[in-house]
This record gives sequence, C-alpha cells and structure tokens, in this order.
Amino acid sequence: MGGVIIAVHYTSVSPAVAVAVTVTAVSITILSSPIAATRQKEPLVSGMGADEVTVEQTPSGTTSESIEALLEAARYDDLDDVMSLASSGVSLDSKDSEGRTALHMASANGHCSIVEYLIRNGADVNASNVEKNTPLHWACLNDRVKTLILAGATVSALNSHERTPIDEVVCRGKMNVIDAINEAVAQLELTGTTVS
Ligand SMILES: *[C@@H]1O[C@H](CO)[C@@H](O)[C@H](O)[C@H]1NC(C)=O
Repeated sequence: MGGVIIAVHYTSVSPAVAVAVTVTAVSITILSSPIAATRQKEPLVSGMGADEVTVEQTPSGTTSESIEALLEAARYDDLDDVMSLASSGVSLDSKDSEGRTALHMASANGHCSIVEYLIRNGADVNASNVEKNTPLHWACLNDRVKTLILAGATVSALNSHERTPIDEVVCRGKMNVIDAINEAVAQLELTGTTVS
C-alpha cells in the first residue's frame, strides 16, 4: 500500500524536477566572446602597438620630454622617477603620440608597484591608446591583471581589432592569465560589484 503511494508521488513530481533545471551564470561566461582561433601569433606588446616611444606636445604645460620620461620610467619599473615626475607636475594621464599612458607601459611590463601607485593617484584605468587598447589589454600579456580589474578597469573594452582584453589572453592561450582574471572577477562579484 505504502509502495503505491510513493510511486504516484514520484510520477507527479518528476516533470517539475525537469523544469526546475536552470543554468547558473558564472564568471567563466566572460570568456565566451569570439575567438580568432587561427590568428597568427604576434610578438608580445609590439603586436598591439607598444613599441617605440614617440612623444607629442600637450597643451597642459607638461613637456614632451617629461611625458617621455614618465612613460620610460613606468616601462622600466623606476618608481622613484615616476614619483618625482608626478610631484614636478607631470599629469599621470599624459599620453604620447600613440595615446599610451604610464599605466599602459607599467601594465604591459607587469610592474605592479607602479601600476598600484598610478591607480592610487587617480590614473585613468580605462585610458585607451590609438588602437583603443586599454592598460588591461596590455596587462593581459602577463598575469598582473588583478590590480587593474579590482580598480574598475573594464574587461569588455574592444580595441581596434575588435578584441577585448580577454580575447587577447585566449588568443595567446595563457591559462594563468585567464585564471587571474577569473579570480579578480570572482573577488569583485563577492563584494557585489558589477564587472563591466
Ligand atoms: C571603466 O569603464 C567601465 C565601462 O565604461 C565603467 O563601468 C567603469 O566605471 C570605468 N572604470 C573607472 C574606474 O572609471
């Protein structure tokens, strides 16, 4: 008798169980953007316009020499120079003729203390160069992406090749960078922050 009741109950429940299956979005969905699987491998940085430092005058009173010095200091991990140039009045968001900022240079080369200094002092984490690469696009050349993402850098910015920072990582097959991105995104989501 009891067995019959259990069987009827089970039958009436199972369609509901099937309907109740849902797909939960997790942070891995940020990796689902289009991937050019056959894209030819490019040299690091230079493939995204990071070679050669050429400089133009800006109207702010910041000289082309001081901008060049700032970008070079960021590129070669010279925090003391970055700080003294900043205190002499060079804008941290200064761009060279290719639109590159100190944050691009430090990010491309994985110089964390300079990246942190620049962010702490208000540098624009979403600055884009002439190819629309952001510092995060270049940070994806190494695994030093966390600071930028936690500081609000957008992970979905498209560069002029229609690639997001994540696309650049996936193209290069850098799983450690993908892990670092997911870690940073997960950390932000824990705090309820929306990741763009
Ligand atoms: C960067 O850009 C994204 C998308 O436009 C925006 O949501 C985010 O607030 C920006 N981050 C900062 C720190 O300005």
